[in-house]
Amino acid sequence: MIYNVALIPGDGIGPEIIKCAVAVLNKIGEKYSHEFVFQEVDAGGVAIDKYNDPLPKESIDACLNNDSVLLGAVGGPKWDHLDVEIRPEKGLLKLRSGLNLFTNLRPAVLHNSLKESCVLKSEIGDKGIDIMVIRELTGGIYFGERGRELTTLGESAWDTERYSYEEIKRIAKVAFETAMKRRKKLVSVDKANVLESSRLWREVVIEVSSRYPEVALEHMYVDNAAMQLIKDPSQFDVIVTSNMFGDILSDEASQITGSIGMLPSASLGKSNIGLYEPIHGSAPDIADKDLANPIATILSAAMMLKYSFGLEDESNEIEKDVTAVLDEGFRTPDIFTNGTKKVGTKEMGNLICSKII
Ligand code: IPM
Ligand code: MG
Repeated sequence: MIYNVALIPGDGIGPEIIKCAVAVLNKIGEKYSHEFVFQEVDAGGVAIDKYNDPLPKESIDACLNNDSVLLGAVGGPKWDHLDVEIRPEKGLLKLRSGLNLFTNLRPAVLHNSLKESCVLKSEIGDKGIDIMVIRELTGGIYFGERGRELTTLGESAWDTERYSYEEIKRIAKVAFETAMKRRKKLVSVDKANVLESSRLWREVVIEVSSRYPEVALEHMYVDNAAMQLIKDPSQFDVIVTSNMFGDILSDEASQITGSIGMLPSASLGKSNIGLYEPIHGSAPDIADKDLANPIATILSAAMMLKYSFGLEDESNEIEKDVTAVLDEGFRTPDIFTNGTKKVGTKEMGNLICSKII
């Protein structure tokens, strides 16, 4: 079977980590007789340099013409001074909304062999961390009306958090379905004690819950959720939340699992086309130094196999191989601790590839 993948290496460490993920996919393809055909697509800073646009129409069309999209990272200080409309981040947001990817899955798992890198007390890490953060990705304050105006009190600026019934309902359904396949525990995070949009969020989540009586649903205010994630992350199975709260909580969840360099993500919509990317950024300070951790991108490719192509065995194999390499003690600098073996980006990629036989 042939699978067409749009590749967006992007900026900073993006190209290095994407190379590792491509090598892993090719190796898996050889083993299971699949062919992955890659089409390189420009987005982010590189696209600004070439076309003065972080996501030219040709790029989004190219993504739509493939079966799925794998992205490294976009952005960097070189483009920070630009107008917000043509900054790299805008390209990413346009890609998410252009492909209608309203669901963002961000699993946060603490690997057994990385317990040393967990910043929490060892008794807390020992209880295990395996959380699926489900972030709404095409609504809320990221896409609401915003503006600036000059008032008698001087300049003021505003952004709006707006959620429709349908937007909440569809992400809530994904969350309950996901919980059904896991430990059947769902925490919906909001700020319903203050925000009207959160009150609607809670009402709709409760409405959808009536169809999933087996799932234990709990509501949590976002400030408390941020605290509970540090206090006892083992209490969480699936978390569902808005775009903004999900952005913040998923970074927090990543840090308690050792390193942001470990965590993949999948952005999904109604069709099978998904966008798969590590949750970390382009880390321009370590770009081209063979220091970046390619595991988040490799695990994102594994998510692509599972969610877009239905290749569950192949996806599980990649996850298993990553675990095996970590168990053998190999570490990129971000997850290095005394007594382990430090390797660079390329070597980490090669080690994972070498497990696929
Ligand atoms: C993320 C990032 C993006 C976001 C930025 C780069 C726009 O932080 O994917 O979490 O805020 O969604
Ligand atoms: Mg973020």
